[in-house]
Amino acid sequence: MDIVRTGKGAMPSFAKTLSATQISAVAAYVTTRLAVMNLAGGNLAEGGVLYRLNCAPCHRPAIRGGALAFSRKNAPALTHVNAATIVGAVRSGPGEMPAFPVSVLGDQDLASIVKYVIFMRKPPDPGGLPLDYYGPVAEGLVAVGVALALALVAVWIEEKGRG
Ligand code: HEC
Repeated sequence: MDIVRTGKGAMPSFAKTLSATQISAVAAYVTTRLAVMNLAGGNLAEGGVLYRLNCAPCHRPAIRGGALAFSRKNAPALTHVNAATIVGAVRSGPGEMPAFPVSVLGDQDLASIVKYVIFMRKPPDPGGLPLDYYGPVAEGLVAVGVALALALVAVWIEEKGRG
């Protein structure tokens, strides 16, 4: 309710355009209809499948966000969002993001996606350097960089040995 009144970041303040009762009505709608949803029944594995189908093209498989080639904008990383933000964004479709109505993603599906996104904020680490889970291309590039650096050091040692 405070955010509706004061605005936050790019979101404008609605204190001048909405009356106090209208602001309460909006806040009540958000908390009862959008934010308070039964999230208990979510299934993590199903959420992963649904996330990869519906969200990963933009937010990337590891929820770290990514560039949208078609609009020159970024899909934000979802590493800090909470359940209410996810539900709100999925149902309303902010900015370039499409809305997913109940006919596309049922409440159970959404509960599973929420579970998956929150799980992925800190996925189990298989070991090694996580490199912020940016994926195989970035990780491979780092490996190539390290290999090149080692090659240069080897050449340098050899040169020194000769001189
Ligand atoms: C077509 C690309 C696209 C798809 C598909 C998409 N999103 Fe988004 N999403 C975005 C963009 C772009 C934004 C930022 C919108 C803005 O505020 O301008 C966003 C914003 C969000 C936010 C708000 C982040 C914040 O910090 O407030 C959440 C949560 C979110 N998306 C979750 C999802 C989930 C879950 C799915 C799958 C059901 C999904 N998105 C599908 C592009 C997409």
